Amino acid sequence: MPYRPQVDLDRPIKDQLILRTVPGAVDYLAEDVRALGARVLRRYPDGLLVEYAGPLRPLAASRYFDVLAVDPAGLDDSRADGVLAALNPGGDTAPVRFRVGDLGEDRWAMRDRLESGYGWVNSPNAWDVNVEPGGLEIGALYLTQRFGELQRTPASTNPVVAAVLTRLAKIEPGQTVLDPFCGAGTLLVHAAEMARPGRLLGFDVQTRWLRMSAENLRTRRVAALLGRADAAALPVATGAVDRVLANLPFGKRVGSHRVNAQLYPAALGEIARVLRGNGRAVLLTDDKRLFRETVQRTRLIRVIKEIVLARGGLHPSAYVVAKRGR
Ligand SMILES: C[S@@+](CC[C@H](N)C(=O)[O-])C[C@H]1O[C@@H](n2cnc3c(N)ncnc32)[C@H](O)[C@@H]1O
Repeated sequence: MPYRPQVDLDRPIKDQLILRTVPGAVDYLAEDVRALGARVLRRYPDGLLVEYAGPLRPLAASRYFDVLAVDPAGLDDSRADGVLAALNPGGDTAPVRFRVGDLGEDRWAMRDRLESGYGWVNSPNAWDVNVEPGGLEIGALYLTQRFGELQRTPASTNPVVAAVLTRLAKIEPGQTVLDPFCGAGTLLVHAAEMARPGRLLGFDVQTRWLRMSAENLRTRRVAALLGRADAAALPVATGAVDRVLANLPFGKRVGSHRVNAQLYPAALGEIARVLRGNGRAVLLTDDKRLFRETVQRTRLIRVIKEIVLARGGLHPSAYVVAKRGR
C-alpha cells in the first residue's frame, strides 16, 4: 500500500503557517483564510504567512493553496500546539519521518536538530515532513493529498488555477457547463466539486485525453457527457450552455501560434454561439494578443475581467468573457 502521511484534522491548533499558491490566486486565498478567522501576517507574490487558530479541517478544504508549511523559526511552537503537534504518523507513538531538501550548508544542522533534538527519523522515501528552504512542508496537506491526484496530460491545468477559473465562472446550481478543450477533464471535475452544475459537457480532439478524462471523472464520481469534437465545430445547440470553462491551447506546449490564429476565431465564434445570452465564459490562455484581438473582432463577446495566473515560467491570463449587449 502506498505510504500516506497522516495529520489530525480535528485537533485544534494555533500556528503561523506559510500557504503557497499561484501568483494571481493570492487574493482568493486571503479571502478564504480570513473567512476562517486567520490573520494575514505577510503577503508574498505566491503565498501568505498567516496566523491560524482552530482545527485544520476547514483550512484544508481550501483549494487556493497547494502547500502548507511551517516557518522554521516557529518550529518549537508548532511542535507544542501547532500543525506539528497534529502529526500522528501511523498512530500516536511513531516518530515523525522527514526528508531534507535543498538547504545547502544548513542541511546537516537541520537534520541533526530534528533527529537528536526531536527524535524524528530521517526517511527520504516515506516522510511526513519535507524540509525545504521555504519551510517545513506537511505532506498530508499537499493539495493532491487533500483532494486526490488526477491523471494529467502534458498540458493539464494546475489544480489551483483550475479552482480560480471555476470560481470566476460563478456556476449556479443546475447550470450547463461546457469545456470544449477538456483534456484530462480537470475543469469538469472542479466544476462538479466546487459548484452544483446540472449538466457537464466535455470535448477534445484527442481520444487519448478523452479516455483520461473519463477515468478521472469515474474516480471522482462525476457524471459528464464526453465526446470527440473540434472546438471550431461544436456538436452543441445554439444558446444551450450557461458557462464555458476552458484552458485553451497556448500555442506553446500544445499547438502553435500559427494554429491558434485559425483556431481562436473559430472556437471563440462557437463559444459565443453556444452561450446563452446571460452566459459567461472563463478562458485561460498565454496567447494573449491573439485572444484579445480575436475577441474584439468577433463583436459577439467582450472581456469583463482579466487575472494573470503565473505558473511554471508561463504567465497566462484568465479572461472572463460575457456576451455583448448585456
Ligand atoms: C491546455 S489543454 C487543456 C487541459 C485540460 N483543461 C486539462 O486539465 O487536462 C488544451 C487541450 O485542447 C485540445 N485541443 C487542441 N486543439 C483542439 C481543437 N481544435 N478542438 C478541441 N480540442 C483541442 C488538446 O488536445 C488539449 O487537450
